[in-house]
Amino acid sequence: MSQSDLPAVSRSDLPTLRIALLGFGVVGSEVGRLLMTQGEDLAARTGANLELIGVAVRSLDEPQVKALKPPNPTTDAAGLISQADIVVELMGGIEPARTFMLKAIEKGAAVVTANKALLAAHGPTLYEAAADAGVDLFYEAAVGGAIPIVRGVRVSLAGDKVTRILGIVNGTTNYVLDQMTREHLAFSDAVSQAQRLGFAEADPTADVEGFDAASKAAILASLAFHTRVSIDEVHREGITAVTQADIEAAAEGGYVIKLLAIVERVPDGSGSDIGVVARVHPALVPLDHPLASVHGAFNAVFTESQAAGPLMFYGQGAGGVPTSSAVVGDIVAAARHRLAGQTGPGESAYTGLKAMPIAVAHTRYQVRLVVADRPGVLASVATVFAAHRVSIDEVRQTPRPTPEPFDGPTTLANLVIVTHNAAEADLSATVADLGELDAVQAVAGVIRVEGV
Ligand code: HSE
Repeated sequence: MSQSDLPAVSRSDLPTLRIALLGFGVVGSEVGRLLMTQGEDLAARTGANLELIGVAVRSLDEPQVKALKPPNPTTDAAGLISQADIVVELMGGIEPARTFMLKAIEKGAAVVTANKALLAAHGPTLYEAAADAGVDLFYEAAVGGAIPIVRGVRVSLAGDKVTRILGIVNGTTNYVLDQMTREHLAFSDAVSQAQRLGFAEADPTADVEGFDAASKAAILASLAFHTRVSIDEVHREGITAVTQADIEAAAEGGYVIKLLAIVERVPDGSGSDIGVVARVHPALVPLDHPLASVHGAFNAVFTESQAAGPLMFYGQGAGGVPTSSAVVGDIVAAARHRLAGQTGPGESAYTGLKAMPIAVAHTRYQVRLVVADRPGVLASVATVFAAHRVSIDEVRQTPRPTPEPFDGPTTLANLVIVTHNAAEADLSATVADLGELDAVQAVAGVIRVEGV
């Protein structure tokens, strides 16, 4: 059948679904623009006219409101919600977003949001409210911007057993670390550059301290392991302590430093799981690993599952235009369900697997020491590792330039030790004891090694 033989569908024959947009910032204005300009296509794909009935903003003087002239800009979000079939929350933050979303759900509207912080802190309240009201709550844009990772895990991998997810889920920190690595910038200069280019906020705390990535880790862990994990249960370290010396030491060993979000099952050794661990921290990634070549503000997420094996999702994890793709995709899905009188997948938390502390996680580590360069030092260091059952994989020693005048007992050396897989608790005990050795002048750095 040629295209011209297809039956023409007039938009006037289609039902109308009323969309309320809460927030008209970087993402909200792009979503508004798509709804205003792509009406024909969205109607044809959905089977309904998606009518943007209004935009709730903090001030009617917002520049995007003046530039794009959306219909019915208002500061009365509650009034707008009461008229909508689908409410799109793109205000961010906990309140008043939470109250507005609950109000929308209560009155029977489907809700689409990109609010990772809210979902990671109060997800269950919202999921339960949506289930009780029989409405959709979709949040594709909350993790990985344009990347369809939420649907990938929630829908496409629903028949599989996901064992681990590892990824770069924060574009700002990836940009900063990339600039420190490739342009040799200091941390603060790289952050300033990210701010000038619009990647980093004026207050970059949420990104550089790992809060944004931790919210996304909590959401991914909940979806992947069919349980509830909140941001408070995610081990979080940001990138503020990463120095140019760390970056250089990484490069010497054939690694690059990335801020990773990792969520994984904790096996009991007999085929069952005793819980899950969710962690966000800088890590060494080997240069030949695909995550090492994720540059700039891009995101990439690896999933590992029993039947599918490894999958990699890659793309733009931030920015108004890419993120609007995920939001409008959710609006179309919610609209289709509404027309069919159905809802999409709700919360799945049947396993009840508990979030466990990072102490039970197993991974590899790189420990950098400044030691006295004299007989027996390497043996005493190795003894400490052995005492805590941590197996050494690689040792590298380089001479350390001695400051003049130097009144120490002997010359110094840099010792870099990479371990085999070890328990986090054992590694921590090892590091504590290494610090007590006479021959160890300083523990210069400890970093996890992933993707090996
Ligand atoms: N600030 C985030 C990032 C985007 O830099 O990736 C929104 O989550």
